[in-house]
Amino acid sequence: MDANNGIPVTQIPGPRSVGGWRMNMFHFFRSPLMFQRWLYHTYGNLVAMGQGDRPTQVFAFGPELNRQILTNPEFFEISTALVRMPKDTVMGRMFFNNLSLMKGEKHKQHRRLMQPAFHHEQVLQYSKDMFRLTKQLSDEWQDKAEIDLNLEMKKLTQRIAVKTLFGLYNEEELNRIGTFITQMTKSILLVSLAPFNFPYTPYHRALRNAEQLNTHIRSMIEQKRLERNATDVLASLVKAHDEDGTTLTDEELIGHTFNLFIASHETTANALTWTIFLLSQHPDILYNLLEELKEIENELSLDKLSKLPLLEGVVKESLRLLPPASVGVRITASSCELGGFSVPEKTNVFFSQLITHRMPELYDEPNRFIPERWSTIKRTPFEYLPFSAGPHMCIGWGFAMQEMKIVLAVLLMRYRFSVVHHAKISPNLMMRPVSGMPMRIFPQDWKFERVPVRGTINQLIDF
Ligand code: HEM
Repeated sequence: MDANNGIPVTQIPGPRSVGGWRMNMFHFFRSPLMFQRWLYHTYGNLVAMGQGDRPTQVFAFGPELNRQILTNPEFFEISTALVRMPKDTVMGRMFFNNLSLMKGEKHKQHRRLMQPAFHHEQVLQYSKDMFRLTKQLSDEWQDKAEIDLNLEMKKLTQRIAVKTLFGLYNEEELNRIGTFITQMTKSILLVSLAPFNFPYTPYHRALRNAEQLNTHIRSMIEQKRLERNATDVLASLVKAHDEDGTTLTDEELIGHTFNLFIASHETTANALTWTIFLLSQHPDILYNLLEELKEIENELSLDKLSKLPLLEGVVKESLRLLPPASVGVRITASSCELGGFSVPEKTNVFFSQLITHRMPELYDEPNRFIPERWSTIKRTPFEYLPFSAGPHMCIGWGFAMQEMKIVLAVLLMRYRFSVVHHAKISPNLMMRPVSGMPMRIFPQDWKFERVPVRGTINQLIDF
């Protein structure tokens, strides 16, 4: 008992609601960003979703709690509870042979084996394809006046993922694999809710899809074993071996490449969508960025792009304000202490990139888009964590930063983007704009103007 003004140490503050923690979680999923803000401002750093004997869901806010959660895997484990499907099927093995769901020694070993595919020099090799595919998409826009930027960014990051992961050149094959994987991931929620294998059910369809994809990736693995000079991610994973000669099995290779595709393309597409949106609504910053890009426009190379301070600041600031992974979750392996309270075993503990990135003690004018701030501030991995931190930190962060810089430079020099007047712009938990991102596009004429928009974005950004 005690230590917290008479509150028992197990009684973490939090909202009471007639429907209990489920009703609170419903509010969280319905309005995740506003709800988290309200929790933090009303109850403080640690908030329980249900009052009573035992909280099952807890929210933890701020750098110190982020550090405790992300650096103590013996207490705060990866949770597999969200993926509910039989493990012993082709699809189950594809989902569970996945870095994000692995723990302990197994996770360490697989991460070691996968790391070479994401070394700086290796990621540089992917830049040519990133430039080429972005230029190709911008050519496709030539006769268009309006696009859904989010859909277009998904198309682009999907093409980049399939090309860099599997080394596919053939356009048709590239699109086919992309569509296969997207169809499977789209059905994941329905599949998790009802994993029953009867004809015409989503689970049955997803299983069939998984079987075909599995056969396809298997034949690509065989090909990589023969092609010694291939430089794509799958080729690098096929070659990877530990000091004792351990290599990844075919099933592990299939699971990892499948997961890399899922983990990489939507996050990067959403981040690009918001960055272009934020720039289009901040004409002065866009002007300065284009001035910076002008200096290298005749020789657009990755080497030059990586030395541009404002471009770096723009990407970092966009990921601070609207991080594509706005919350993360771990589950307690045993009862433990967090923020002065005792948290029971098997509690889901959410940490929040979104709230941490908006703390006024860490960032002046936290709700404003100020890319220049990054030339004078440095933040610890627990104060700025769009790619998370600790052992499960994003393995593809260097890949994503490089991809974003290339795509932004190519597209912004060629086109001016202007949001459709009064469009409804509202991000969800994964920072997907739920009603899309309708943009009018013009050849770049530097006639920037801010446009009035509706939606929850107005509560999230001080324009
Ligand atoms: C802007 C783009 C991206 C963002 C914001 C992002 C964010 C994240 C975050 C927050 C995590 C850790 C989740 C946790 O701690 O539970 C993560 C993990 C991961 N990401 Fe990314 N990611 C991005 C792009 C990519 C790309 C391009 C790739 C691969 C090409 C990738 C591959 C992965 C993998 C494999 C993991 C699991 C790592 C592990 O568990 O050890 N991500 N990402």
